[in-house]
Amino acid sequence: MRLRRLVLISAVAVALGATLNAGAVAANGGQSDPSAQSLRTLAARHNLAIGTAVNMDALDDANDPKYRQLVASQFSTVTAENVMKWEVLEPTQGTYNWGPADELVAFAQKNHQKVRGHVLVWHNQLPAWLTDGVANGTISNTQLRDLLKKHITDVVKHFKGKIWQWDVVNEAASDPWDSPPAIHLKGFWAEHLGAGYIADAFRWARAADPNALLFYNDYNLEAFSDKGPSDKTFFVYNMIKQLRAQGVPVDGLGSQGHLGTQYGNYDTFQVKDALDAFSDLKLAVALTEVDARSQMTAGVLANDSNEINPRLQASAYNYSVLLQACLLNPHCISYTVWGFDDKHSWVPTWFTNPPEGLATLYDESYQPKKAYRMVQSDLLFAGPPFVLPRIPQTPRR
Ligand code: XIL
Repeated sequence: MRLRRLVLISAVAVALGATLNAGAVAANGGQSDPSAQSLRTLAARHNLAIGTAVNMDALDDANDPKYRQLVASQFSTVTAENVMKWEVLEPTQGTYNWGPADELVAFAQKNHQKVRGHVLVWHNQLPAWLTDGVANGTISNTQLRDLLKKHITDVVKHFKGKIWQWDVVNEAASDPWDSPPAIHLKGFWAEHLGAGYIADAFRWARAADPNALLFYNDYNLEAFSDKGPSDKTFFVYNMIKQLRAQGVPVDGLGSQGHLGTQYGNYDTFQVKDALDAFSDLKLAVALTEVDARSQMTAGVLANDSNEINPRLQASAYNYSVLLQACLLNPHCISYTVWGFDDKHSWVPTWFTNPPEGLATLYDESYQPKKAYRMVQSDLLFAGPPFVLPRIPQTPRR
């Protein structure tokens, strides 16, 4: 009797163990090694899109198949790093160059990836015919407004149905180090068209594709500071609140997430507070251009591990904070890195004095860095009750 019961209990235990094991295998995609899981597989557990900016020269480089392979295998959303910017799309007035952007969209469709459209209205990377025309007076401000409307309408219609999120307006707000330090609208568009261009841009984009999610995108919005006149996050928060109150179709806030390890690091809850404030305005939120760079000191360049290791670790920490904050907010639908490898990162060409680098998930030889492993493990460990699946977002009416 005793023996039979023991046998029975053992049999049940074995069966149960097998079931639990099968569950574990199924839950991690059929593989038992968690560190072998791709970012997109792990992010899918949270219905989170994980993305990268894509450099089209690298994607097309026949001698560098690894770049393509990593874009396809690790990410579930892509952003054009440059080829949807006005200077690339319309280098000569009236002649569109859709080729490279269309190629990226086709690549994304083939690999079951969503596309973030970047960018419709920005003061940088404008075609010379436009900025020269404005400077020499051959383009009046009234004509400029018409040209902007035409640009937004043509571009959004061209990609209609293929873009998940559009960065409609990018980097419209000043920084506290500008003069005056009180945050204000700055740059080419505000100077020539006044504040109204922002509402116009969103309305024109909505008219051209009613199904795309329309984002305001900017940097240094990761956390609130003192909520005073020089708090950029607070300025953008109030601006979007007003736009929404006026019925302007803003659906989302893109927090770029360009961080530097030389600055004070935020913690997860500071970033969560900012994301929550925006999603409380009934917006979707997204991390859109994450990287965490470091100064390339003489020691770093000389390969001194005393100088390199703390930087790699601080960079990983910053990736983690932004990801954890995003995971804690179910309206945070995507987390995109601005390039995934140090070889193709914009940082070394952009931040040269002092030189900066080491900003991405993989090193120059596509070896995953601490930051990559940290993102992987954050995605792996997260779950209920505090991390719930993302809530699918639809355009606001
Ligand atoms: C950068 C690209 O990465 C560079 O290749 C280009 O030379 C300049 O622009 N914020 C943005 C992005 O919104 O479009 C910028 O991309 C990086 C900062």
